[in-house]
Amino acid sequence: MAQIKNFKVDARTIIHLGRESIKDHTTALLELVKNSYDADASVVEVEIYKKETFDKIRIADDGTGMTESDIDESWLRIGFSGKRKVKISPKGRRKTGEKGIGRLSTDRLGEELQIISIAHQEETKSLSTNGIKINWELFNQDNQDLSGVPIEVIETHSAILPVARKDDTGTELIISKLRQDWTKENVEALCNELSILTPPFSETKDFEIFLKTDIAPEFNGKISLFRREANHYLSRNT
Ligand SMILES: Nc1ncnc2c1ncn2[C@@H]1O[C@H](COP(=O)(O)OP(=O)(O)OP(=O)(O)O)[C@@H](O)[C@H]1O
Ligand SMILES: [Mg+2]
Repeated sequence: MAQIKNFKVDARTIIHLGRESIKDHTTALLELVKNSYDADASVVEVEIYKKETFDKIRIADDGTGMTESDIDESWLRIGFSGKRKVKISPKGRRKTGEKGIGRLSTDRLGEELQIISIAHQEETKSLSTNGIKINWELFNQDNQDLSGVPIEVIETHSAILPVARKDDTGTELIISKLRQDWTKENVEALCNELSILTPPFSETKDFEIFLKTDIAPEFNGKISLFRREANHYLSRNT
């Protein structure tokens, strides 16, 4: 029988695929909101704070959430995307993802990531809460195998889901030790990009995004094309 060998994966690969291949932090954040959209969320809360105030970004949705096995088999399996097989969500949305690397954009935004997700557990017919914590800097080491980097499990029973949620399931991401400060222009660019995911542009009628930031408070509130135009008008005339 022919001898076989296997690839080993260096931990830094994750940094090349994530942080280094994402154009900018606006694009990185957009990837995460697209994941909420793909998870059939109705509401997403995006919070972005200055490094000198809370130094964090929070993205919370009321999507389907992830069970422990979803986290293990989907979130922690680089390059895997169930969206390649199932392109339409149960709510009838055409899913935006398929490559299985979008979540690595969290590394572009900050050094530490905490995920807490609430999902329906088939076996027990109840809700389960599962969380993990990732320190992306641990991947930035010489001679480190990807599979040897520890991912901390968070023992918790609570996640803070959007205030205006329509469901009890969902996912909350908290990114801390931000890699850069956001400017007002960045926030405006983000609002422009996000508004494309919301009605009237999107095929979906029930997708709302709420922004909270201390960088450009005039953009706080629900994201929509009309609000964006009003804000633009206000910022030019004040
Ligand atoms: N907010 C979320 N709610 C529920 N599941 C999520 C969420 N974010 C990520 N996931 C799960 O993690 C997987 C990986 O997300 P990721 O963005 O890396 O890949 P993708 O969306 O499948 O493809 P792409 O790289 O093109 O975005 C998703 O396929 C989904 O199963
Ligand atoms: Mg994605």
